[in-house]
Amino acid sequence: MSAKTLGPVRRKFAPWNDRSAVPLIRIQNVSKVFGSFTAVDDVSLDIYEREFFALLGPSGCGKTTLMRMIAGFEVPTSGSITIAGQDLTDVPPHRRPVNMMFQSYALFPHMSVEKNIAFGLEMDKLPRGEIAARVEEMLHLVKLEAFAKRKPHQLSGGQRQRVALARSIAKRPKVLLLDEPLGALDKKLREETQFELLELQMTLGMTFVIVTHDQDEAMTMADRIAVMNHGQFVQISPPAELYEQPVSKYVADFIGDINLLEGRVTKNEPGTIILDSEMTGSRIEAVGESSAGMGDKVWFAVRPEKVAISLEPPRDPTINATEGTVWDIGYVGDVSVYHVRLNSGGTMRVSIANTQRVVERPISWEDKVFLTWTPDSGIVLTR
Ligand SMILES: Nc1ncnc2c1ncn2[C@@H]1O[C@H](COP(=O)(O)OP(=O)(O)OP(=O)(O)O)[C@@H](O)[C@H]1O
Ligand SMILES: [Mg+2]
Repeated sequence: MSAKTLGPVRRKFAPWNDRSAVPLIRIQNVSKVFGSFTAVDDVSLDIYEREFFALLGPSGCGKTTLMRMIAGFEVPTSGSITIAGQDLTDVPPHRRPVNMMFQSYALFPHMSVEKNIAFGLEMDKLPRGEIAARVEEMLHLVKLEAFAKRKPHQLSGGQRQRVALARSIAKRPKVLLLDEPLGALDKKLREETQFELLELQMTLGMTFVIVTHDQDEAMTMADRIAVMNHGQFVQISPPAELYEQPVSKYVADFIGDINLLEGRVTKNEPGTIILDSEMTGSRIEAVGESSAGMGDKVWFAVRPEKVAISLEPPRDPTINATEGTVWDIGYVGDVSVYHVRLNSGGTMRVSIANTQRVVERPISWEDKVFLTWTPDSGIVLTR
């Protein structure tokens, strides 16, 4: 199954916009304090049944701590967590409809793949026949039928990760918490496994909460992403919205590449904001709304692929335009990224798909270039 077939199906899924939808997991004003250090700082969040929810943020921002509280391995210092309407404060981890696959998943080294998967079911004293059937189903799901009798040391890192996944799904929890589930995999295997995970989640109709360091991974897989920083949520949005409408420089910078063009507000009317920018040596006209006051320092945030680069000067160089010199060109897959040193000393990045037809002569190092963009190509950020 590829992203193309998943996309249209998932796009219709947006229970967070439906005011009558009842969330499956409800996190309300949850904090976790260790000694004098606040690891999770007053977060509130609703997660819906069948949602694929991702937590994204730098190391130490509180992702694992939040997961551990949902799973019941950690008690919130304040706030409440309910699942399917049940307050979980006094419910121990193994009695919750939740399973967690840990950041450093540990398989039992002396047990075969099938025994590892069966472990939780045996602890629950399920009938033998049922356990065998469930294990077979799990082996099939993670495509490890041929490896059932092997021990973990006879598997590759990716295969081991899939065993850990099968083990965490075997008990069919309502909610599966995955802490960096693909961390041990190389890039290619990681991308393959991402789609397997998505397929699995859709087949089983489970709710996934996944932690990742990797923004591409979150963008590919999640219905919604929470960007965390210092124990707080900075923004919770579907991937496309996070990319197109970041609420701050922090989010804009965290998700993909972005040019932040600094300027001061000279006009702010409904629908139009105009900045005076020393950085670009021009006025920046943007469409949209902003809370900024006259004279405030703000940033026009525009993605490299939304900026045009040319050897010819634009018709009006005083608005949404700047000039500079190419000082580096990077080739990333089928995209070329031009690093342009502006006359003001700042830099901007412009990316161009290599499949694009080149009308002028190709742009090269040391070339003097003109950059332009449209008023709707970016947004004004105040923080
Ligand atoms: N048991 C604990 N006692 C004291 N401090 C802790 C404890 N557990 C976590 N912390 C601290 O809380 C902060 C958040 O930790 P957490 O493990 O949630 O981060 P994370 O976002 O998962 O990071 P990473 O991406 O590196 O896994 C860190 O500064 C960590 O040192
Ligand atoms: Mg962690």
